[in-house]
Amino acid sequence: MRHKLAAGNWKMNGLSGDLAEIEALIAAHPAPKVEMLICPPATLLSRMADTVGDHPLHLGGQDCHAAPDGANTGDISAAMLVDAGARYVILGHSERRTDHGETDAVVKAKAEAARTEGLVSVICVGETLAEREAGETLGLVGRQLAGSLPDAPIAADVVIAYEPVWAIGTGKAPTSDQIAEVHGFLRAEIKRHMGVEGDGVRILYGGSVKAGNAAEIFAIPDVDGALVGGASLTAGDFSPIVTALENA
Ligand code: PGA
Repeated sequence: MRHKLAAGNWKMNGLSGDLAEIEALIAAHPAPKVEMLICPPATLLSRMADTVGDHPLHLGGQDCHAAPDGANTGDISAAMLVDAGARYVILGHSERRTDHGETDAVVKAKAEAARTEGLVSVICVGETLAEREAGETLGLVGRQLAGSLPDAPIAADVVIAYEPVWAIGTGKAPTSDQIAEVHGFLRAEIKRHMGVEGDGVRILYGGSVKAGNAAEIFAIPDVDGALVGGASLTAGDFSPIVTALENA
């Protein structure tokens, strides 16, 4: 059985005062039936880890460098994320792929660095609207998956997030049929790469998930949770999504 995962990506949002949202979130879910994950900006990681204490809420980074250390001004290594309290790291988010030119090979190298340090990678794939309209969605996400997975992956090392670029931050989520098609395809591709081990890999949906559509999305086969941006920033918005996943 795959343990469902409700993940929040705070992106470039969050100051010290926002730690109160984490206090509220863990108070609302003292014993969550699903795995909860928040990926704050790196500046908040270690203080958020203190706030979380021994609550099972996990923390993650939003990116890491592929190198273990060195002359990489502004970058953060996988070991630094672990040191600050992270268990996970988001890799290959479309905003990284677009704004920082990250290729599948770069994402793969980062996933291997993350694994070396014991971090679980949340590897993001997803098509633009133009790619969808050109009928390229499955081919594209299949190529992103194949190129971004670390060598010899095991299920405990990776989570895949399907995030159509056109659905991120737009309020425009795909239809259930569109999500089901891509998640079913990704499951088959993951098993083609990993064999039966691929049954254990969680596939998250991300892009305009909110309280109002979460239950419908979580009812789709092969949706094992969500990667949530805007609606993860407050406990008030994220908590009902966690509850919807618990009830799915
Ligand atoms: P959104 O972002 O929930 O704000 O659409 C999702 C993401 O980019 O992970």
